[in-house]
Amino acid sequence: MATSPYPPKKTLRLHADEAGISRAAVILRSGGTVAFPTETVYGLGADATSDAAVRGIYEAKGRPSTNPVIVHVHDVEAARALAADWSSLAERLAREFWPGPLTIVVTANSKISRDCLAGGSTVGIRIPNHPVALALLREADIPVAAPSANRSNLLSPTSADAVLDTLDGHIDALLDGGSCTVGIESTVVDATGSTPKVLRPGMISAGQLAAVGDLVSGRGEDTRIHRSPGQHPRHYAPGIPLHLVEEFSETEQCYRIGFPHRCKDVKVDFMMSDNPSVYAESLYRVLREASLSGRRTIELIRPPGNGSWEAIHDRLRRAATPDDDG
Ligand code: TXA
Ligand code: MG
Repeated sequence: MATSPYPPKKTLRLHADEAGISRAAVILRSGGTVAFPTETVYGLGADATSDAAVRGIYEAKGRPSTNPVIVHVHDVEAARALAADWSSLAERLAREFWPGPLTIVVTANSKISRDCLAGGSTVGIRIPNHPVALALLREADIPVAAPSANRSNLLSPTSADAVLDTLDGHIDALLDGGSCTVGIESTVVDATGSTPKVLRPGMISAGQLAAVGDLVSGRGEDTRIHRSPGQHPRHYAPGIPLHLVEEFSETEQCYRIGFPHRCKDVKVDFMMSDNPSVYAESLYRVLREASLSGRRTIELIRPPGNGSWEAIHDRLRRAATPDDDG
């Protein structure tokens, strides 16, 4: 058997108190990998200025190097310091939505490891709105590359246990800060031009972004979501097949996820909320529970139309896309 150049690690589980955050910051500064909570999902962090540290993320996740990683900072000044061109659009978006679930893509300067950019010239930057993430970023005082803290192509984790499901023994430490409140990944917006382009929908909606500029996205022929590198059709998948349905089948051994008023008189395993924010918050947790339930498949009643449901539909579509190998 070939020996991996990356031997298994003992993953240190840290409380998100002062001592835990300090320890995590030291690990980041010395080139290690640390999973930490944000308001969207847990991120797997490493020093974004170090090629070796960023490669540690790709290795732990089994992530293709064609997929760029988001860089996290604790204030707007630190974000500006990473851009070759910090556009006025980026400035307006940052003022309006940071800290928060928005990743702003700008042209990168040479401070960031090329491995964060996946061969491109832009970098996605975010200030997360989470006290533990902000304290960690402030204390580490380096830009922190952090994709979602899961093996590539599996569900993003919204709790410390969900991180350990797939990364225990592959990362140096995990900072346990409880459950994430937004629950799905940030909106990614391209701010290299004069109009924002949505590259990945999220809970900050196209409508909210439109207030900041003439938004190019969302509806109509040339206003579709633009393709972001690394956005593969199947990206946020649970371990067992997920079927999006209008009504439940008679299939036994199926985990049923309902929607209010759309599955009357049928026993469900979990009833989702009809409020999109609450729906998003619980989505990955419920899919994880379903995949750990011992059932063979998941059926989920489709939620309603677009608007604030757009990002949820995007994640559901990806989670339901069958594996390439069937
Ligand atoms: O909420 C989030 O965004 C979480 C937390 C941890 O911040 N992070 C996250 O990262 O979801 P990740 O690596 O799972 O998703 C990053 C995606 C990439 O796949 C790509 O689609 C887009 O963000 N992205 C990152 N950098 C980009 C860039 N320079 N240009 C275009 N898209 C980029
Ligand atoms: Mg991810």
